[in-house]
Amino acid sequence: MTILTVETKPFADQKPGTSGLRKKVPHFQQPHYAENFLQAIFDAAEVPAGAKLVIGGDGRYFNREVIGRAIRMAAANGVGHVIVGQNGLLSTPAASNLIRKRQAMGGIILSASHNPGGPDGDFGIKYNVANGGPAPETVTERIYARTKKLTEYKIAEAAAPDISLVGTTQFEGIMVEVVDPVADYAALMEELFDFELIRNAISNGLTLCFDAMHAITGPYAMEILHKRLGAPQGSIINAVPLEDFGGGHPDPNVVWAAPLVDHLMSPHAPDFGAASDGDGDRNMILGRGIVVTPSDSLAVLAANAHLAKGYSAGLAGIARSMPTSQAADRVASRLGVGIYETPTGWKFFGNLLDAGKVTICGEESAGTGSNHVREKDGLWAVLLWLNILAARKQSVLEIVEEHWRDYGRNYYQRHDYEEVDKAAAEELMDSLRGRLASMSGQRFGTLVVSEADDFSYMDPVDGSLSTGQGIRIIFSGGSRIVFRLSGTGTVGATLRVYLELYEPNAARHNLPVETALAELIETADIIGEIRQRTGREQPDVRT
Ligand code: G6P
Ligand code: ZN
Repeated sequence: MTILTVETKPFADQKPGTSGLRKKVPHFQQPHYAENFLQAIFDAAEVPAGAKLVIGGDGRYFNREVIGRAIRMAAANGVGHVIVGQNGLLSTPAASNLIRKRQAMGGIILSASHNPGGPDGDFGIKYNVANGGPAPETVTERIYARTKKLTEYKIAEAAAPDISLVGTTQFEGIMVEVVDPVADYAALMEELFDFELIRNAISNGLTLCFDAMHAITGPYAMEILHKRLGAPQGSIINAVPLEDFGGGHPDPNVVWAAPLVDHLMSPHAPDFGAASDGDGDRNMILGRGIVVTPSDSLAVLAANAHLAKGYSAGLAGIARSMPTSQAADRVASRLGVGIYETPTGWKFFGNLLDAGKVTICGEESAGTGSNHVREKDGLWAVLLWLNILAARKQSVLEIVEEHWRDYGRNYYQRHDYEEVDKAAAEELMDSLRGRLASMSGQRFGTLVVSEADDFSYMDPVDGSLSTGQGIRIIFSGGSRIVFRLSGTGTVGATLRVYLELYEPNAARHNLPVETALAELIETADIIGEIRQRTGREQPDVRT
């Protein structure tokens, strides 16, 4: 093979964020920009000679281009065997599964998750390690350090191989194996869930609508929900992946998946509705007449997981990110298993899953998953819900309301203030930090602060400490307000305010969420000085 050594200069802005490096497409199109970051990954990963590497992405604009370069660079950097999804496609959970199943050294996933795509949209490169999960901070720090020092990168001179046909070929002396992106993932789902039970429920009238948002899960949903489980083809909408997601925003929430929400609230609503994001790791769950919040979904899934064959032995424990509601904590305590509260970011679940301390994890940001892979998994959540619906023969609404009666309801809402001036947002957080020590015992209306802190987390497996993970203000009775700056925004700062109120009284379980949370919302503004410091009267998004 002829290896080119290309001279380059470091870019100062290649620090990986919560989920790898994310920038606008034109930014990634600068000469050498993507190659520099890929080289930093190869250097940081210290590729063992002949190693196996998984490569794939969510199919967004620029995906094909970068996949070709990544394969050529893998060949030049000592990788012996590349496993790549056909046409470069792999959902994030499917990539995680392949890394684990094929015992690869890791994987390169090209995606900007739920951010819009297209020539002016977003693009991203993320490295996952051998357990199938996102690289831990020690690795991303190494990658970042390399990006600051690089003077050259290595790439095979030959043109990128054709990856449009499944099969194994030789490319410059290494093996390039093009795999069906869906097959291994679908097989894993069949191991975890009772497909026959779900198939029978569907043939007996259970109706569903899955919105793939023109993103990666289209082919997965067609294979699993339509072909294997018998849902009519029309049950899967926006099923064809497009490079620009059809101009949409592939983020499964009430704002960006509004047509699906309207459909589920209409008189013709199916029994079950769901959507996933650009790269297939997020989920939104709905039933006729109800949008299930991610925090409630985690709690319901954890309480009912034993109904699916893959979890019939019960759960080892449950983990949730700190801002996620405490509904799952009540399930864990009833089950007598551990509950772990981690900082925001799926990577914090990796050690707990590897150590067998938890089976199910979830985040308020529409992520749920289990120990089957090391990423959150949108279709997994959909299938577990379907399995539970089929086993319990009740509606989504009935199951959620029964859950509230049983455990109490954690009313919950997140308010986002987007593109806030960065300095103002940081000052707001600093000011809160400065007042934490004096907050305990303070009264706001009927609320009394019982505890206030800046969340820090000591990983119980490797002892590493993560500080500054969000301001928690906890009131007696368990209500909470959490303030946090987003780690994934691309413009200015995004302030997230998470509001939670525990209501044990079933007679009060059907209030509009904003009514139930009114006092907390007002208190959040008083304590956080949100209006005053951001100049915003209202949040941009309420989820
Ligand atoms: C990504 C990660 C999630 C995380 C989310 C938080 O989607 O994969 O694990 O919860 O970012 O985003 P934020 O914008 O709140 O930092
Ligand atoms: Zn995603």
